[in-house]
Amino acid sequence: MAPRRKKIYEGKAKILYEGPEPGTLIQYFKDDSTEIPAHRKASIEGKGVLNNRLSEFFMQGLTNIGVPNHFIRRVNMREQLIRQVEIIPLEVIVRNFAAGNIAKRLGLEEGTPLPRPIVEYSYKSDDLGDPMVSEEYIVAFGWANQQDLDDIVALALRVNDFLSGVFYGVGIKLVDFKIEIGRIWDGDFMRLIVADEISPDCCRLWDVKTGEKLDRDAMRQQGAGPMADPYTEVARRLGVLPTNVGHGGKPTLIN
Ligand code: CDP
Repeated sequence: MAPRRKKIYEGKAKILYEGPEPGTLIQYFKDDSTEIPAHRKASIEGKGVLNNRLSEFFMQGLTNIGVPNHFIRRVNMREQLIRQVEIIPLEVIVRNFAAGNIAKRLGLEEGTPLPRPIVEYSYKSDDLGDPMVSEEYIVAFGWANQQDLDDIVALALRVNDFLSGVFYGVGIKLVDFKIEIGRIWDGDFMRLIVADEISPDCCRLWDVKTGEKLDRDAMRQQGAGPMADPYTEVARRLGVLPTNVGHGGKPTLIN
């Protein structure tokens, strides 16, 4: 029997295991979700499989346009090989339209277009509920320096342009999303790359025509459908459903 892999970290939706070579990890996508009300099922069958595929799709797309990220290759239905990074303890949020926290804080109607994409940060801490922090906090507490922050904003805006375009092409509006950034070293040289995952778990996605939610807000409201329905719809439109990936699956254009 193969030796059990060493678990490095277990979070809400993913587990990280030691990878086959130094500097790599295996990222395992679980079905669990914290977005489902307690009285409903706490996991959504198939969500992990879809998010594994979707994160692969977006990270590969980013690689293709020269945005550095942690993805190396998918290993199986639920696992992908990634580069080990030192995660910066920030949730980097990019907003195109008002929703969620910014709508609440500023009294904006959900869906109001913002004057330009807005990048903001939360400090990663489940115990504290990921409080919003300013650049001043980030530099003062040493989580990142000013040069890092410039690089993070540049990365976040490139990811935003890429994702907004990809989603718009299949009739989906990217309202906002969250990414995480990691550090890697080549000798003494440090680089920042996109890490963690990109999936409907970390985006607000609304159908362009109907406004229907296709993200974790939909999960929050509806609870679990038979097979992660909103996520299945996103994957179907992008042509990345498990059955046709690698077999010439094409995005479905919504007219
Ligand atoms: O989602 P919520 O209203 O709690 O917070 P937000 O600041 O409005 O979230 C902005 C975006 O970041 C949404 O697309 C969230 O799904 C995403 N986010 C996330 O993926 N993980 C977090 N811990 C916080 C926000």
